[in-house]
Amino acid sequence: MSTWANLGLQDSASPLMEQLIFFHDHALLILVMITVLVGYLMFMLFFNSYINRFLLHGQLIEMIWTILPAIILLFIALPSLRLLYLLDEINEPSVTLKSIGHQWYWSYEYSDFNNIEFDSYMIPTNELSTDGFRLLDVDNRVILPMNSQIRILVTAADVIHSWTIPALGVKVDGTPGRLNQTNFFINRPGLFYGQCSEICGANHSFMPIVIESVPVNYFIKWISNNMNS
Ligand code: CUA
Repeated sequence: MSTWANLGLQDSASPLMEQLIFFHDHALLILVMITVLVGYLMFMLFFNSYINRFLLHGQLIEMIWTILPAIILLFIALPSLRLLYLLDEINEPSVTLKSIGHQWYWSYEYSDFNNIEFDSYMIPTNELSTDGFRLLDVDNRVILPMNSQIRILVTAADVIHSWTIPALGVKVDGTPGRLNQTNFFINRPGLFYGQCSEICGANHSFMPIVIESVPVNYFIKWISNNMNS
């Protein structure tokens, strides 16, 4: 999760988020180089007193400053396209989780396991424990196994919501009447916090998501306990 003064991206907990961070840094580097170059040129114009009364055209330089930016854009466009398709690739998921957005909470279904289903509400500030995170903790967490491919199906019951976990690089809209799909792979244990990110009404800010990533054998224990009850 994000902590104090963290204005950048959160540490990644999945290979896809790692790639997203690499791409962000790559694009930022190109952006900084362009900004510095253009800034330098614009600044230097103030001190430029060269005048050429007979200059009517400069075919060569115009060719260069048209084609060069286009090539630079390719260095952003191609990795971006690669990431786009990488994010959409479903790779033999071992668990499927269905999450349904409601005004204003999430509900979850583990369709592979006897259709376990539960609601996940934010814990109100006045009921929060001393080590809880305000506006971020929920009563029922999503338990998921680490080191496994997980497919997530997202939909909504009333208006558009968005199931978003920054550390995993996941952001899928839940739209009424549609079923959206994505996948991720959590590569470490821990708690991963997320929030709805479609403006979905008065309590939009108060429908957080908490994923508890555990080793596979713990997940099997948890799931079998819940299937029996
Ligand atoms: Cu649901 Cu914003």
